[in-house]
Amino acid sequence: MASNTLRFLQAIAPIVLLARLAQASAQPQRQPSQLLPPGVARPGCRDRCGNITIPYPFGIGAGCYREEYGFELLCDDARSPPRLTISGGYQLASLSLSAGEVRIYLNATRKCYNVTTGAFVDRNDDASLALGSASPYRVSPTKTRLVATGCPTIGYFVDGAGYFVSGCTSVCRPAQYAVEGQGPCTGVGCCQSAIPSDIYYYEPNTLSLQLQAGKLDPILGANVTTCQYVFLADADWFSYTDSVFFNRTDDFAAPVVFDWAVRNVGNCSAAKLNMTDYACRSRDSECVPSSNGAGYRCNCSQGYEGNPYLDGGCRDIDECLRPDEYQCYGNCTNLPGHYICKCRPGTDGDPRQRNGCRPKDKFTPALKVVTASGCSCQCSCASGSTWGYRRGSSSERSRGSSSRTGASSCSSRCAPTPAPAPAQAGSRYSPRRSWRRRPTASPPTVSSAAAGTASSTGASSRTRRWWPSRGPR
Ligand SMILES: *[C@@H]1O[C@H](CO)[C@@H](O)[C@H](O)[C@H]1NC(C)=O
Ligand SMILES: *[C@@H]1O[C@H](CO)[C@@H](O)[C@H](O)[C@H]1NC(C)=O
Ligand SMILES: *[C@@H]1O[C@H](CO)[C@@H](O)[C@H](O)[C@H]1NC(C)=O
Ligand SMILES: *[C@@H]1O[C@H](CO)[C@@H](O)[C@H](O)[C@H]1NC(C)=O
Ligand SMILES: *[C@@H]1O[C@H](CO)[C@@H](O)[C@H](O)[C@H]1NC(C)=O
Ligand SMILES: *[C@@H]1O[C@H](CO)[C@@H](O)[C@H](O)[C@H]1NC(C)=O
Ligand SMILES: *[C@@H]1O[C@H](CO)[C@@H](O)[C@H](O)[C@H]1NC(C)=O
Ligand SMILES: *[C@@H]1O[C@H](CO)[C@@H](O)[C@H](O)[C@H]1NC(C)=O
Ligand SMILES: *[C@@H]1O[C@H](CO)[C@@H](O)[C@H](O)[C@H]1NC(C)=O
Repeated sequence: MASNTLRFLQAIAPIVLLARLAQASAQPQRQPSQLLPPGVARPGCRDRCGNITIPYPFGIGAGCYREEYGFELLCDDARSPPRLTISGGYQLASLSLSAGEVRIYLNATRKCYNVTTGAFVDRNDDASLALGSASPYRVSPTKTRLVATGCPTIGYFVDGAGYFVSGCTSVCRPAQYAVEGQGPCTGVGCCQSAIPSDIYYYEPNTLSLQLQAGKLDPILGANVTTCQYVFLADADWFSYTDSVFFNRTDDFAAPVVFDWAVRNVGNCSAAKLNMTDYACRSRDSECVPSSNGAGYRCNCSQGYEGNPYLDGGCRDIDECLRPDEYQCYGNCTNLPGHYICKCRPGTDGDPRQRNGCRPKDKFTPALKVVTASGCSCQCSCASGSTWGYRRGSSSERSRGSSSRTGASSCSSRCAPTPAPAPAQAGSRYSPRRSWRRRPTASPPTVSSAAAGTASSTGASSRTRRWWPSRGPR
């Protein structure tokens, strides 16, 4: 009687526990995210300018941005569409927290010449960028390149001290000698060069080769353009074609990708020394070292998303609501930072595949579950009974009741597997007794019962069905 009750309690314990866990995790996670919009800006602060979202540490207006040079933004609503700028008047095209990038429009530098005489005609060269090392922004070496178009020219830029940093040569060929297979922007009419890391100062220039000794070099001067340009550009945005650039004389701006970071301290360990100043405010966030220049950024921890720079800004991802992204087609349970995916009771297979869970047949899958769970407690069932089974071995199974020693060592080796309670119940309450009461039990029934005891997860319903009805009276 007592053991019966105890067994029943043990059988329901994991269910109660799981229900508690689910409640505990659901309450703090779900409630705020249902009541509030996902944290983007500080409370009471503007979070948009035109169609650009402005996440803290960036912000518009006092108290809305991180108190550090470069995070304050301005929005000019008088323009259509509204224009978002950083200090210095540079216009922002986009902002990303998770990628740690901003896109800023920079003007192309233009110089134009009289094609016949080579005399300088006109220029627009106020396109330098002087943000300073204290600013969050560095030109992205992976996503930005220096481009020079027009010919014949050398396009380059210098650093704050006035010395060459990067540049390239563009020369045009006569049309009838076009190089077959010459890719766009490989030196004919357009060239490009890579940018080193940690660049926060950019002063572009072009050197017209046309003016050498007042006379055109026959190779360099084979074909010349009126205007020559040099500019930084987002490599994904820029594409060169003769038809667009060869005869171009107008001014234009190009989006440039910058990596941003918090740079008032050099690295994560230094940042964590002053928790007042530490930018990663959310409990569920982590510090990420800057990959371009000194400093750091913040990331929501795995399984969370949102704004790590705000208190409570990282929210648990409910993976169960996104089965296609997180692959769960079985019974999905969301937990803080992760989730559990398993086949529904009575089914078996791979819950991460669509239709991966199939109804269990009575015999073979049960053995699979026992094997997979790595628990061999049911082995004890073997002693004195007509049926034996030892972990992962089908040959043992056929030996049946002869493996008495195997059975007892099995029993003592019963280790807690994913859900320990049912397994312990199995070993401590000696399933042997229930088998003895059913000496004529046929193997299929026995094995499915064994699976019910042993398979940790999803087996509780079978366990419940089995023990109260078949257990010792
Ligand atoms: C914002 O609007 C402009 C056009 O006004 C469009 O070119 C741009 O792609 C939009 N940006 C985003 C992030 O939607
Ligand atoms: C870019 O050029 C335009 C005119 O072409 C000018 O109005 C604007 O101020 C320039 N921007 C910068 C940052 O120099
Ligand atoms: C180039 O210079 C020549 C000689 O001074 C002049 O005749 C011609 O009009 C100029 N061309 C342009 C496009 O200004
Ligand atoms: C110069 O090059 C451009 C672009 O390849 C071509 O369209 C043009 O015909 C060429 N001009 C001469 C004189 O070869
Ligand atoms: C440039 O302009 C000239 C004269 O208008 C034209 O003949 C030539 O095809 C143009 N070149 C390109 C590449 O568009
Ligand atoms: C982090 O920065 C501090 C202060 O600048 C420096 O002493 C320390 O060596 C740095 N640590 C690492 C791991 O770079
Ligand atoms: C920590 O940062 C705060 C805010 O920037 C600053 O006021 C304070 O002086 C810093 N404390 C130390 C010990 O550096
Ligand atoms: C930051 O989080 C994003 C999104 O979860 C992830 O793609 C990225 O790899 C993380 N970065 C680092 C350095 O952990
Ligand atoms: C899913 O599993 C949980 C325990 O993880 C259980 O409480 C719930 O009843 C199961 N739901 C279904 C539909 O099987």
